[in-house]
Amino acid sequence: MIVVIDGPAGAGKSSAARALARRLGFRFLDTGAMYRAVALAAVRQSVKLDDREAISQLARRVKIELRDDRLWLDGEDVTAEVRSSAITSITHYAADNPGVREHLVKLQRETATGQNIVSEGRDQGTVVFPEAQVKIFLTASPTERARRRLRDLEARGEGLPLETVLEHQNLRDERDRNRQTGPLVPAADAIQFSTDGLEPEEVVDQLEALARARMPAVE
Ligand code: DC
Repeated sequence: MIVVIDGPAGAGKSSAARALARRLGFRFLDTGAMYRAVALAAVRQSVKLDDREAISQLARRVKIELRDDRLWLDGEDVTAEVRSSAITSITHYAADNPGVREHLVKLQRETATGQNIVSEGRDQGTVVFPEAQVKIFLTASPTERARRRLRDLEARGEGLPLETVLEHQNLRDERDRNRQTGPLVPAADAIQFSTDGLEPEEVVDQLEALARARMPAVE
């Protein structure tokens, strides 16, 4: 069974999807981490980010695995490293690259084969798993999302003014929505869900109720 959670950055997708997967006993697929891994690989191997063909080939050459709730790049645990602001700000080079997307979509489908999963990203309900039994499009107001992102950054010792975080976020939203392949758009049959004013626990409670209502077999 497949549950997908799509939505913009900072809506609380990652933590909600991870917690939901745990509650349902499903595997969690953090697809954003895969795009981040390609960006990190490019930096490490000094591949030019704007060389589309080279980045596309690089994505196929490296080994990207989501295992034990960690991200592995060529066998090295890079879970924390890919979340730095430096990698966040260049990951669009990987996400905007149709060759990279084609490969990662394939990898995501392979990872899900024969498994119960909660998959989180931008295009999971539209492109990767259009057949998913439960599709959720998670949103929150831009300011709320920026505040959450800032809290994450501060926790990593990378504080920035809220306005700067908001500016970066607007830019990423625009890129996510206007990407030619796999843009951020709710699937026609997605349930739109705003996390504004809700505690993380309340979000997971409601998502779990939604998922269970649509998947009686999981009970
Ligand atoms: O969710 P995130 O912030 O970890 O995503 C990192 C980047 O990858 C972000 O620019 C959006 C992009 N992304 C994507 O294009 N498609 C996905 N399925 C997941 C993430």
